[in-house]
Amino acid sequence: MTPTSHPRLLACLDGEVADRPPIWFMRQAGRSLPEYRLLREKAPDFIAFCLNPEMAAEATLQPVRRFNFDAAIVFADILLIPLALGQKVWFEAGEGPRLGELPEMSRLRDGIAQVEEMLAPVGETLRRVRAELDPSRALIGFAGGPWTVATYMLEGRGGDRAAARATAFSQPELVDGIIDVLVEASAIYLAMQVRAGAQVLQLFESWAELLPEDLFERLVSRPHARIVARLRELGVDVPVIGFPRGAGALVEEYAFVAKVNCIGLDVQASAAVGRRLQANGWAIQGALDPLLLRAGGAAMETRVRQLLDQWGLGPYIFNLGHGILPDTPLAHIEQVVRLVSEP
Ligand code: CP3
Repeated sequence: MTPTSHPRLLACLDGEVADRPPIWFMRQAGRSLPEYRLLREKAPDFIAFCLNPEMAAEATLQPVRRFNFDAAIVFADILLIPLALGQKVWFEAGEGPRLGELPEMSRLRDGIAQVEEMLAPVGETLRRVRAELDPSRALIGFAGGPWTVATYMLEGRGGDRAAARATAFSQPELVDGIIDVLVEASAIYLAMQVRAGAQVLQLFESWAELLPEDLFERLVSRPHARIVARLRELGVDVPVIGFPRGAGALVEEYAFVAKVNCIGLDVQASAAVGRRLQANGWAIQGALDPLLLRAGGAAMETRVRQLLDQWGLGPYIFNLGHGILPDTPLAHIEQVVRLVSEP
């Protein structure tokens, strides 16, 4: 492979520090783009959209074409796993996800065998994207973190996760059982994505917050470590980015236990924690506040420069601290890409 076609993102995940950090944004595809909204009108059912390789590949490529990001992330959703495991999943327009009753544990376990076939369209999306994507751009596959997915499975919708946390205390066997199923199902799903062309994997643990240390280890760090170990067992050697959003003071413990290659940091992460992680051998990713991206202006520019200064001397992937907000002005995204590309 020539140096010019080796994706900047992969070099960074190998520990290399180049003239500028690679940049991509979580949830870079989606409603902030007018071309996405047009495409989305053709598929009223969001799940059907995710499982339509032609449309999903187009949605994946749109933000890379428009902003020249260093990576594409496959267009899918973390809730495809519960769907494949036999739980009903649908999206209420303007409200978000809804899930049907939690299936019996034995049915969930049996569901693992269906994951690969039911989510094969996501593999087809990856193949189509890889065929069109410039070789200098990396292709990212993903799954939800088991705890985050479990909160939706338990609560039936996005909420404040209090009910899911309460269940983790009151019915530990039930929650551990769901996590076990999700660890295996996610590993199988992620391995399939790598065979289809994903060069990097990310675990989106969006609801890692508010967990006491022992519960955090049981529900977040160890399940991530088990997914990584299972992937290695399955012969998958691509780098894994773990994003335990809201881990707060536990993020370094997460890094040591989870054994991922790169730590996704959220908007609160301190400069010092990021530098310590880099010094201990991790690449880091993050952590511009999506609210500040939406707000724009001098405050945004100052923060972008600060992030580049505080972390740019080590392996650092420029990204947000959570997903892009749908009403973000596109000019702000263009400006950040420019600031990162020509510091
Ligand atoms: O990053 C990308 O561009 C790839 C696509 C992607 C989507 N969802 C598409 C999507 C990714 C990586 C996700 C992850 C995801 N999905 C997470 C973890 C990251 C995070 O943001 O916390 C979570 C919690 C979900 C579950 C989910 N999917 C919710 C809560 C919602 C509704 C809220 C919302 O933002 O609309 C979705 C729907 C969803 N997933 C949309 C997109 C583009 C919007 C659906 C639409 O077009 O109407």
